[in-house]
Amino acid sequence: MRAVDIIRKKRHGGELSEAEIQFLIDGLVDGSIPDYQISAWAMAVCCMGMTDKETAALTLAMAHSGDTVDLSQIAGIKVDKHSTGGVGDKTTLIVAPLVAACGVPVAKMSGRGLGHTGGTIDKLESIPGFRTELSRADFFAQVNDIGVAVIGQSGNIAPADKKLYALRDVTATVESIPLIASSVMSKKIAAGADAILLDVKAGDGAFMKTPEDAARLAEAMVSIGNQVGRRTVAVISDMDQPLGRTIGNALEVREAIEVLRGDGPDDLREVSLVLAGHMLVLGGIAPDITAARSRLEAAIASGEALRKLADLLAAQGGDPAVTEDLSLLPQAPIRLPVPAPADGYVLGIEAEAIGLAAMTLGAGRATKDDQIDYAVGIELSAKPGDRVRKGDPIATLYVQSDDDRAASAIESVRSAYRLGAERGPDRPLLHGIVQ
Ligand code: URA
Repeated sequence: MRAVDIIRKKRHGGELSEAEIQFLIDGLVDGSIPDYQISAWAMAVCCMGMTDKETAALTLAMAHSGDTVDLSQIAGIKVDKHSTGGVGDKTTLIVAPLVAACGVPVAKMSGRGLGHTGGTIDKLESIPGFRTELSRADFFAQVNDIGVAVIGQSGNIAPADKKLYALRDVTATVESIPLIASSVMSKKIAAGADAILLDVKAGDGAFMKTPEDAARLAEAMVSIGNQVGRRTVAVISDMDQPLGRTIGNALEVREAIEVLRGDGPDDLREVSLVLAGHMLVLGGIAPDITAARSRLEAAIASGEALRKLADLLAAQGGDPAVTEDLSLLPQAPIRLPVPAPADGYVLGIEAEAIGLAAMTLGAGRATKDDQIDYAVGIELSAKPGDRVRKGDPIATLYVQSDDDRAASAIESVRSAYRLGAERGPDRPLLHGIVQ
């Protein structure tokens, strides 16, 4: 077999065989196929697409290119959750203890944030003492013991995807539905869960800008899951504005705890309940989404869900008292109000601009090696539909010092708000379910 013939076949729109795809992935990992040939093939895929069969073959080849996690030592149906990434998306902090409190074992490996989107591991590390590195044996034992563990991705998971993604990033070949779908699903399959719940974000702050494109990505990922024997459901949720009101690590933990206490913003609570509901159904705990919803609401009302978060924190070295006393979380010393630029109704808040402003303050990373400041961030007091008056605070920045960085973040947040004389239509929180 020769890479050049495979590239040509794809360039002409042909369907590659499993053996041809395996040959490319083996060559990518062992270095026998040079980067320029892999990149040329990725460009051909971008232009010509892949069939469902090819996409599944690519996913499996990448999933098996490194370590795979065997979760069979954990009893029950293990359900994983994955979000395609958003701004203010702290749903894992809510959903993991919530579904664990209802009986779904959660053995979760999560990532760090990069660019305008945050990562669950950074958020958890803002809790004093919390450890995100556990040995495999401790990880399994903790899930068997308390039903939940959340750790950083460790080991050599899907190295082919890592290499391919690095090439795609610099050759304008990220934006291909089969390549994104196989990239996400290869890591989920290697991580070992029996079933997968995907939260595919649609909107300004997401990879997929429209609900239609998000639905196409969701369909591709659900099709892969079904072809490889992992039950997969995708919820398409809105990311045209940040989710909830807080952006920044400790601020997001605070808001997640508020939801687990039965408070918190409606949008965050609703998306979390929908995601958790599908996880209960996938995990065989509830027969349908209505029964799942009642079970979840009862777990919040009784305090079981919050206690499960406290158990998770204690098991991984964090201070469980933060669930009772939010002042134990890191807090920035200075709060700066962001004044409304005009009178009017909030029509929208550009999620990506808010994510970038939070990153400028130190809540996120521009490059992989940047240090995060857990205490800083942004709280949005006005959300779409709210009426504001010129000069009223629409948001608050939490900062270490009132300097040029803060001034520029204030301007970015101000211009991320779209205001109008009339109240705009409500944008749906959820755009659909693919299963
Ligand atoms: N996230 C991934 O993991 N892979 C992609 O290709 C895009 C987003």
